[in-house]
Amino acid sequence: MSPIGIDAISIYTPPYSLPLTELARARGIDPLKYTVGLGQETMSVMPPREDIVTMAASAALPLLNKNPELKNTISLVIFATESGVDQSKAAGTWVHNLLQLNSKARVIELKQACYSATFALQMACAFMKQTPHQCALVIASDTARYGINTPGEPTQGCGAVAFIVKQHPRLIEIEEGAGIHTEHVMDFWRPPYLDTALVDGKYSTRVYLTALQTCWDHYQEATNRQYESHARFCYHVPFCKMAEKAHERLAKESCSDNSKHALIYPKLIGNSYSASLYISLASLLENDPEDLSGQRIGFFSYGSGCVAEFFSGVVAKGYQQYMAQEWHHHLIQSRTPLSCPEYEQFFLLNSLKSTESYSTIDSAAGSFEFLGVEGHVRRYKKKQSGL
Ligand code: HMG
Repeated sequence: MSPIGIDAISIYTPPYSLPLTELARARGIDPLKYTVGLGQETMSVMPPREDIVTMAASAALPLLNKNPELKNTISLVIFATESGVDQSKAAGTWVHNLLQLNSKARVIELKQACYSATFALQMACAFMKQTPHQCALVIASDTARYGINTPGEPTQGCGAVAFIVKQHPRLIEIEEGAGIHTEHVMDFWRPPYLDTALVDGKYSTRVYLTALQTCWDHYQEATNRQYESHARFCYHVPFCKMAEKAHERLAKESCSDNSKHALIYPKLIGNSYSASLYISLASLLENDPEDLSGQRIGFFSYGSGCVAEFFSGVVAKGYQQYMAQEWHHHLIQSRTPLSCPEYEQFFLLNSLKSTESYSTIDSAAGSFEFLGVEGHVRRYKKKQSGL
């Protein structure tokens, strides 16, 4: 059977951030609670001219620019999100249009909190096993919103990841065998009439760790792979301290080098829900100083509600030449830091609206802009200066 997995990956996060020390000052909280207690430095803030569609298209565009042949070979687009912009139409259909993809490509949207991108990856692998000359574009794009002055506020963030799944992948081969845990729990959810999540915060952190243990036990049983046969680990990162605690649970030691490079981007972007685990993978592959060729990576994907999965992949030889470290560092480092009132203004402007038409105020964005809604129809534009 041909190896199958991730052939290329690209991440995107909007051009604004909020330093968590600034948020702590405004809320009268000791900044160490956010920077040490939660392990976060900054969080990306979505401006009014962006949404999950623009973030997704901006994440995917560099992949197509690097390899224009993809327009003809992408036969499946899976869009994973829990910040959907329509109850019926898949967000991926707008992305398909903005990127001018092939009309023969299927498009679908998936939801199960932060887990959906993992199912998208597994589904893309299953599809592409049958089709040696085609590939799937998997996109995860989300904005984490808990509300102003709530305990979840410092664990917000936003971002997107796009990756290509095909046979003979140049980055990482996804291995057979996984550990799964599904359980009906109300740790985090968002009814359709709310644009901020409802969350039982401390309970959610306990469920995350329990799900990790159950998935890991199931994964070991299914694959016979021991902790030592994994060189690195990537976790879903709602905030870095959560991933560190998860790793302590598996590693049975308090500090470990084999997960820290996976946390460099999440520490600066914040929670990007469905995109978070794969932004963490990009962070690992682009920042780990060791050559990881031929090494096994363990992945823990957690989506509240809850569905969780532990699975693994083996890094391809020469993967480094296909990464975009400079571009991703530039995206993150060139963000404009906002004051707390500026962040609050963006937050309120992005609130759920029930009006038939509105325009978004001018703000910086990536390669695509969300212009507003006209007669209930969302309007987007590719920027002239777009990559
Ligand atoms: P909180 O109650 O404000 O914080 O909310 P806390 O009192 O638990 O403090 C946090 C940590 O900071 C603690 O560390 C404190 O000791 C420490 P811990 O004891 O846990 O190790 N601390 C300090 N450290 C240094 N100096 C200080 C200081 N003060 C306190 N001065 C909570 C924290 C995470 C609950 C909240 O932010 C929240 O509700 N966040 C949203 C929920 C969440 O992220 N859950 C994670 C698991 S669920 C998940 O990952 C799924 C998700 O991504 C959604 C999806 O699947 O779609 C969320």
